[in-house]
Amino acid sequence: MKVLFGDFKTHYNQYKNQIDQAVHRVLESGQYILGNELENFEKAFAVLHGQGYAIGCASGTEAVYLALAACDVSNGDEVITVAHTAVPTISAISMTGATPVFVDIDTDTYVMNINQIEAAIGPKTKAIVPVHLYGQMVDMQPLLKLAAKHKLPVIEDIAQATAATYKGAIAGTLGELGAYSFYPSKNIGAFGDGGAVFAKSKERFEKLLMLRNYGQSKRYHHDIVGINSRLDEIQAAILQCRLPYLKQWNSRRQEIAQKYIAGFKDLTNVLKAPTTHPDNEHVFHLFVIQVEERDQLQAHLLEKGIQTLIHYPTPAHMQKAYSYLGYKPGTLPVTEHITKRILSLPMYPELTDEQIDFVIEVTHQFFAQNKKPLQTVNIVSPVILEQSLS
Ligand SMILES: Cc1ncc(COP(=O)(O)O)c(C=O)c1O
Repeated sequence: MKVLFGDFKTHYNQYKNQIDQAVHRVLESGQYILGNELENFEKAFAVLHGQGYAIGCASGTEAVYLALAACDVSNGDEVITVAHTAVPTISAISMTGATPVFVDIDTDTYVMNINQIEAAIGPKTKAIVPVHLYGQMVDMQPLLKLAAKHKLPVIEDIAQATAATYKGAIAGTLGELGAYSFYPSKNIGAFGDGGAVFAKSKERFEKLLMLRNYGQSKRYHHDIVGINSRLDEIQAAILQCRLPYLKQWNSRRQEIAQKYIAGFKDLTNVLKAPTTHPDNEHVFHLFVIQVEERDQLQAHLLEKGIQTLIHYPTPAHMQKAYSYLGYKPGTLPVTEHITKRILSLPMYPELTDEQIDFVIEVTHQFFAQNKKPLQTVNIVSPVILEQSLS
């Protein structure tokens, strides 16, 4: 049996008629940029969040960039985020001219460790970007309290967590702005690149409309400095016909996660399954396990026909591009510890129950021979260490 990490072709074939119709409708309309398809999708996407506004843009990276720019983040500012994320979160911060400032992650949920934020806030801090990684949201209540105390906007990176909730509130509605990616593998994906920004306020929405369209208030009137970042009509039409399925797809992801978790119940000594914080509804963009002999397990699974990936093998602060920031190994101990042990198993709605059982069975086969117990993180954060030494 083969289990691909993602299976876009099967997915396309399941929804072929609707997608083909949407594409043809746009092709025949003669309107390919900033037309009715985009407006309709933006309205529907905003409705998903209750009250508010959405703008489509060209990618998730640019969604984060546009959100930061809408909050006037620019050269010389600092933006607090995590190094354990897809590097595009950090690229977007760099695009504004600001400097990313990293805090560590929680040992169980792998998202931003809220307790480290206050120590990272300084006179240059201009915004905080929590990343709702793998499909689970950051602990937003204390984060928002802290942000309000320091008068800092919070921009949620929701690329991996569309329609996830925290204490019943949908991702994107808690911070000042929410940034989404419609990269094909995302919980709702386009058939190409795409992104969106959700805004609660009309003022921010209107600024975002300008920012994504060369800074124009109307044609040839450039009131602010903007870029070209538009979700094209074909992608918008495709996304519009996919939006009604989002809940169903997220439910299937949750069902698959429960099957994996039940299947790995007897392996708790050697395999750590994802932990969902009780305040969260996790939408399982990824299903990430932790094991001690990660590379060996990955090779074993591949040998049996199961593809896996690592999200992410090198955290942003250890990437060459960000060496100028001067982070030393050991600065973000939880991030660095889990980076060596995490493995993403196949997770997408089209996975069959047989495929899930096969992944569980092959994983068990591996642990029948390799019983190295998982090392837990025994870490004193450098921030705490510094405080206790002073
Ligand atoms: C957390 C996170 N932020 C931002 C992005 C950037 O999205 P895109 O690939 O659409 O630019 C991604 C995509 O991988 C992501 O996972």
